[in-house]
Amino acid sequence: MSKPRILTGDTPTSTGLHLGHYVGSLENRLRLQGEYDCYFLIANVHAFTTLAEKPDEVRANTIGIVKDWLAVGLDPERSTFVLQSEVPAIAELTFLFAMLLPFNKVMRNPTLKTEIEAKQLGDSYPFGFPMYAVGQCADILAFRPELVPVGEDQEAHIEMCRDVALKFNQLYCGVGNRVPPEEHAKAGGVFPIPRAKVGRVGRLPGIDGVQKMSKSLGNAIFLYDDARTVQKKLNKITTGRQSPTEPGNPSNVLMQYVDAFIGGQGPEGAARAAEIKRRYAAGDNIGDGHIKAELGEAINSLLEPMRQRRATLDGPEGDARVIDVIRRGTARANQVAEETLSLAKRAMRLDFGARTLG
Ligand code: TRP
Repeated sequence: MSKPRILTGDTPTSTGLHLGHYVGSLENRLRLQGEYDCYFLIANVHAFTTLAEKPDEVRANTIGIVKDWLAVGLDPERSTFVLQSEVPAIAELTFLFAMLLPFNKVMRNPTLKTEIEAKQLGDSYPFGFPMYAVGQCADILAFRPELVPVGEDQEAHIEMCRDVALKFNQLYCGVGNRVPPEEHAKAGGVFPIPRAKVGRVGRLPGIDGVQKMSKSLGNAIFLYDDARTVQKKLNKITTGRQSPTEPGNPSNVLMQYVDAFIGGQGPEGAARAAEIKRRYAAGDNIGDGHIKAELGEAINSLLEPMRQRRATLDGPEGDARVIDVIRRGTARANQVAEETLSLAKRAMRLDFGARTLG
């Protein structure tokens, strides 16, 4: 019996992953790694949407992110690590799917809009920037997965991907308009309609307390930050609260971190988080400084084993290990993606034997 598939990925626009990635998606990946046939994609082509002038940076980030994956515990023996730029079927499917998406619909995609604002791209972004949303449909559908574990910010992309898959199956595979999404594969569709699976914490604010945690906004705590840096960053958080006896806002950034990093540690953690929040809201003699220290401990105990594993991957030997993992994974991934492409081309009456012509 083959296991159902998962696909998800990260764009190497930064040197490393942060706590937002962890609670939003990595934690789910770790949990699902045993039950599913997992494909983890490094969207290195997408990184060029904003880093076209910095290819060395994209390369370094690519290797850095795979090191983070290994450090977190994603296991290349059980899961498949895929490098986007080495999967030609993804590029081909992107072009084919672009025909099924109205231009205006892509341009209205709320995730793209938010990114344009947050990164202050104005109207000077390249054509490839909105294009990446189409590309993401191909990233996903190339592997015909059931589930896509992502952060909340990615839901609009997954919705677009579902639209493409529905339309493809209806247009080219004779699946009726009334067939519900979960029955599409059974009804002869090439693509099962994938579902997003948002992590325990869909959106983690950065230490500025306002925006989503993000490297480009300078408000992130990275998985590879050392213990002192983690504490220093936490200490920078401002809540406007003056004293331990002033009732605090139970949904401010500190309390969201308490939920995410203390509440996430089993039943004891959940009880402790509830107690902190109750006392915080009541102004029951609990100071921000105390909470930051407790958070620092919780976060550092989560990150310490990752830091230790990450340290074993430092330097050129670590790079070589990463490249080997990527090569082996991508070879396996190409078998699945090529199969998908040939099924899609057959459905589109494009089966002229493209790969074997000549
Ligand atoms: N756009 C995603 C992000 O920025 C990364 C990504 C690329 C992705 N392709 C994907 C995520 C396919 C899930 C599935 O986080």
